[in-house]
Amino acid sequence: MQSREKVRFEGLTVEEFRKRAGIDLQEFLNLALPKAREVREQAYAPYSGFRVGAALLIEGGRILCGANVENASYGLAICAERAAATHAVSHGERRFRAIAIVGAEGVGTAPCGTCRQFLSEFSAELPVVYASNEGFVVTAVDRLLPDAFGPASFSVKG
Ligand code: THU
Repeated sequence: MQSREKVRFEGLTVEEFRKRAGIDLQEFLNLALPKAREVREQAYAPYSGFRVGAALLIEGGRILCGANVENASYGLAICAERAAATHAVSHGERRFRAIAIVGAEGVGTAPCGTCRQFLSEFSAELPVVYASNEGFVVTAVDRLLPDAFGPASFSVKG
């Protein structure tokens, strides 16, 4: 089924999204949003009650997902984005093409600062689609985390 979501372009144009992700935005939404919503059901969020699902499109076309996992020691919570990324890396997949993030329906769920840094490690230019209050925002990790510290920083010998 085609989903026609209301989309706002913040960091990337629709053409830039297609170029970076290697897939049309609408096709990505049709593939990734149902999976992000499905994995969101698996969230372990007894403390916040806020369930999040993330669907990561991998080089080669697989979509690997993650949900947030909380802990009685609150600060140990793992966000859905990091769960998806560690899932992918654990399956030998480090080349990410795009990520979709959904929290509670109708609630904006931009990736937190920690997740921006975490995703940047593997794909600094990763296109990001996250739920906003009235639809979805299209952007990218390098727009959300400009001038990031990353693996390349280590090649500069001080
Ligand atoms: N959370 C995510 O999983 N991703 C986000 O982008 C924002 C926040 C989780 C962490 C915590 O389990 C809950 O949402 C409330 O902050």
